[in-house]
Amino acid sequence: MRNVLIAYASVNGTARECAERLAEQLNGPEVTICDLAKTTPDPAEFDLIVIGSCIRFGKLRPSARKFLGTCAAICKTKPVGVFLCCGLTHNFEDYCQRLIPDALRRDAFLISNFGGVLDPKGKSFWDRFWIRAARSSILESEMEDGEYTPVLPGILPENIGQMAVYAKKALSEMIG
Ligand SMILES: Cc1cc2nc3c(=O)[nH]c(=O)nc-3n(C[C@H](O)[C@H](O)[C@H](O)COP(=O)(O)O)c2cc1C
Repeated sequence: MRNVLIAYASVNGTARECAERLAEQLNGPEVTICDLAKTTPDPAEFDLIVIGSCIRFGKLRPSARKFLGTCAAICKTKPVGVFLCCGLTHNFEDYCQRLIPDALRRDAFLISNFGGVLDPKGKSFWDRFWIRAARSSILESEMEDGEYTPVLPGILPENIGQMAVYAKKALSEMIG
């Protein structure tokens, strides 16, 4: 049976939830979900790897940055997919350009935006502070644009579904 690793770095749980939703949709292969804050997996043990990180202050989590570097070195020989969770979705392309190694941008089977959540409930003091400011600026800019039912970001299930489809295709194309 094929062996898939979904490695994530998350502070408030969005990237973890995305990793779990993706795992549910990959019915078929054996799937290991790994929290990069706790463990550094060995890519050699897996047939396909998906790595995801939340974005905070325009940066990846350090554990994800490190593991992305490891994946960049093997992505020519093994299928690798990448997802980001970001609350400021209009910055996604910029995050890809700045934060994802060239080799992965060239060879990953998919780099996707799984969305982000801006809900202050249950978060730490400073996280609530940042989230409230971000929510206000999104709401204000959308109201200025004449959108009277402004939309806050959320998880993007269709993009998680697309990652599952691409991953299954990459597994089915593997020889041996
Ligand atoms: C302190 C803080 C800083 C953040 N900085 C950014 C940022 O620079 N860009 C962005 O797109 N989203 C930013 N976000 C939004 C997060 O990416 C979003 O809440 C995401 O769902 C967090 O993922 P997690 O729950 O896995 O930690 C920030 C959120 C917090 C709380």
